[in-house]
Amino acid sequence: MAAPVVNKEYLNEIEKARRDLRALIYSKKCAPLMLRLAWHDAATYDAKPKNGVAGGPNGSIRNEEELNRSANLGLNIAVNLCEEVKAKHPKITYADLYQLAGVVAVEITGGPSINFVPGRKDSTQSPPDGRVPDAKLGASHLREVFYRMGLSDKDIVVLSGGHTLGRAHQNRSDFDGPWTKEPEKFDNSYFVELLKGESEGLLKLPTDKVLVEDPVFRRYVELYAKDNEAFFRDYAVSHKKLSELGFTSP
Ligand code: HEM
Repeated sequence: MAAPVVNKEYLNEIEKARRDLRALIYSKKCAPLMLRLAWHDAATYDAKPKNGVAGGPNGSIRNEEELNRSANLGLNIAVNLCEEVKAKHPKITYADLYQLAGVVAVEITGGPSINFVPGRKDSTQSPPDGRVPDAKLGASHLREVFYRMGLSDKDIVVLSGGHTLGRAHQNRSDFDGPWTKEPEKFDNSYFVELLKGESEGLLKLPTDKVLVEDPVFRRYVELYAKDNEAFFRDYAVSHKKLSELGFTSP
């Protein structure tokens, strides 16, 4: 599919959609789900695909087959909510809309401002299943998946801080509970809780736990637990990278 023409009119629509997304996410209290939608649309990226399908933030997650994969359970709610905004701003691609929703979700829950560059193309072709990380696996799996996307150890740790928002649901992932005591607030408490260890009522996935067990990962966890500013600064950089995988702005 052709890239959208990013002219004054498109940029204007983006700003209007940003306002509509703020209102929608605020009223539906769906910031965690919107962030997860942006992440799962982007996280299929393969920098050197063997089967020719690069994936990445291209809106393909809206395809029924991809949306129904077990890793994406629950994200149909976010996709449907985004349709309200798409209907008002049909020129905006799904790829841009989902990434904008992720940026807005972080911002309105108190997180850092993330620079958003529009112009992503939509794709109707879904990449093969199995590209998003499996929460039951360990450090080498995380590295395999993130390195495939062209991301680093630092990106792995800082982006895992996205779990400062929201919770796991038994009927979606077989895990249950929030990572922090205030799951509607974007801050460094995910890292503070990780260093504290097991805590009644709070969740740690196997892939969260490895961040304190692996010495390279742990250095970043320690930094972000004690320095919220460093977390916000690095998170904004890594989130922008994630949202632009395979995308060169027009
Ligand atoms: C939720 C896995 C990285 C954002 C979840 C859930 C799992 C999971 C199993 C629970 C889903 C449910 O039951 O509803 C992983 C794994 C990751 C990872 C294995 C590898 C590092 C990320 C990243 C972000 C993110 C990089 C964003 C930057 C979220 C959010 C939720 C979530 C916001 C909460 C969704 C809600 O409240 O409905 N993740 N995740 N995750 N994830 Fe991750």
